[in-house]
Amino acid sequence: MSDAPRTRFLAKLDASLRAGAFVKLTLSEYRGAEKGLRNLYGRPVELRDGPHVSLVWRYATRDVTKNVPPGEVVAALGKLLGPEFGRAHLFTTTGDWQLQCDASGEGQLKASRPVFAVAPAPEHDQKKRAAQAVGHAPFLRALGVTSATGEARPGMADKLRQIQRFVEILGHLTDDSPLAGRRELRVLDMGAGKGYLTFATAAFFRDRGVDADITGVEARAELVELTNRVARETGFARLHFERGAIGDFAVKDGAADLLIALHACDTATDDALHHGIRAGASLILAAPCCHQEIRAQLTPPPVLREVLRHGILTEREAEIVTDGLRALLLEIHGYKASVFEFIAPEHTGKNLMIAAHKRAQPLPAEPLRERLRELLAFYGIRGQRLAKLLGELP
Ligand SMILES: C[S@@+](CC[C@H](N)C(=O)[O-])C[C@H]1O[C@@H](n2cnc3c(N)ncnc32)[C@H](O)[C@@H]1O
Repeated sequence: MSDAPRTRFLAKLDASLRAGAFVKLTLSEYRGAEKGLRNLYGRPVELRDGPHVSLVWRYATRDVTKNVPPGEVVAALGKLLGPEFGRAHLFTTTGDWQLQCDASGEGQLKASRPVFAVAPAPEHDQKKRAAQAVGHAPFLRALGVTSATGEARPGMADKLRQIQRFVEILGHLTDDSPLAGRRELRVLDMGAGKGYLTFATAAFFRDRGVDADITGVEARAELVELTNRVARETGFARLHFERGAIGDFAVKDGAADLLIALHACDTATDDALHHGIRAGASLILAAPCCHQEIRAQLTPPPVLREVLRHGILTEREAEIVTDGLRALLLEIHGYKASVFEFIAPEHTGKNLMIAAHKRAQPLPAEPLRERLRELLAFYGIRGQRLAKLLGELP
């Protein structure tokens, strides 16, 4: 057998799977032909027909998951390591290994002490199960989403699905962020409304044993009163709601690790994103709502006239441009931003999410600013709230 670093890495993987010492693995530096593919992650899962490894191919806008029996993992990854991925990191309870290799599997293999002392209990779709469990949470009954049996009340099925999906996404995004493993967190939820997702966030962290101090900001006094009462009655001592406008809320540097703004109206999303950036939040999650600001300003070049003479297409274009600008502004200010659909459109039309992770090393801002200027000029946009708040527009 060849002693190339790839072969040795695969032997470590094989041994860890056989010994029950496998914790997880990450493949990166994708060099294959698939558009948008970034990483491949592997974790142990327990399925009805026994233990498997869940392999997740992460694309820019979606995940593709395949559960593979442990005996097939080495062969499956052996084909990908080198030709498709140049880097791999294996975590086991006995040691960690990092492989850097060329297409033929030659390169370097480095060993280090194990980050994880014990293998995680293999759970099938831990996040999905956490999400399902939300249905039985007392706060959902108190807020009128579910009945005593945990079923969605009439007319609330989409809302329950949305809450469950949000919890699932929150799990994925926090696990991929510096917030993973933190025992204490400060969370702001801007435009909390009836608090469905604020409570779901509080329950999610509580179930993980994380002490999360969560503040929901909401303009409507009656909702603030209701949600504070439900928080008291359902035992969420670290969750409270404040009445006020998002834009006026005083957020200090470092005041939030996670900032959430889901369906805050129009430019309230920009106010919230601005707070997140100013606070230096590690993770910002926003699901934009209505988009009014850009639409009236759109004066695109004549070549788009035939497309944008249709009102609905202008409206969608305005939404796309607004959220694209928000993502770009987050990048300029040190975040890695991605935009994706977080729930199927049949559950809600407002299904876009902007997720932004704070980068350890921000990208050089000037080339991004140049792209921003080009984009604004192309569409004839003179005003955009987040750009103004960040000083990118006068
Ligand atoms: C559509 S609801 C969304 C509620 C919740 N985030 C969710 O996704 O289920 C939007 C909420 O944001 C509040 N809101 C909108 N603009 C606001 C602002 N500028 N300041 C504070 N609250 C605001 C509204 O009163 C409303 O309750």
